[in-house]
Amino acid sequence: MRSWIGRFLALAALPYAVVVAKPEQIRGVSSPIFHYYLQASPQDPTIPVMGPEASSEYFNIANGAIQSANSSAYLTVGTDSTSYKTLTLSASAGTPGWALEGDTIITGTSSEWGRQLNFLVCKVGGSGSSGDDLWQVYLQTGSDVPAGKTCSNYQSLHLPCLC
Ligand SMILES: *[C@@H]1O[C@H](CO)[C@@H](O)[C@H](O)[C@H]1NC(C)=O
Repeated sequence: MRSWIGRFLALAALPYAVVVAKPEQIRGVSSPIFHYYLQASPQDPTIPVMGPEASSEYFNIANGAIQSANSSAYLTVGTDSTSYKTLTLSASAGTPGWALEGDTIITGTSSEWGRQLNFLVCKVGGSGSSGDDLWQVYLQTGSDVPAGKTCSNYQSLHLPCLC
């Protein structure tokens, strides 16, 4: 059991926390991805999607990188000219810029995208392990949405808990 001062110090340190002690699930908190979890697409393991908890991956978030403890792939941001940037699960971390703000996944102020905490999700064909929909995830730096897809803008991604 942590003392009150320990809890206080833990909370005070949160905005600057860059290291998470154990691999964590990363989840959505609002419809249509409420309690959907980040994972590789079963159709294409380089594409990160939000899907069922049963097939959730666990991630280490450290030194600006988000790395799957399951596949060792790194979550990297594409160079799309649209405001939404394709995320890829790749073997190389690239130039990492991820950070945590409390339990929220962001790109850091000093990253090439500045501080961003919005994500776009678009429904993809096929369904997850429990028959749930899968939603491809993009970093959203503005308001663009692709034509002809079912998408939800301004989603945020979170760690399930800070315990
Ligand atoms: C990822 O690893 C965790 C921890 O070992 C495990 O519980 C989970 O089932 C794995 N997920 C997948 C999709 O393999």
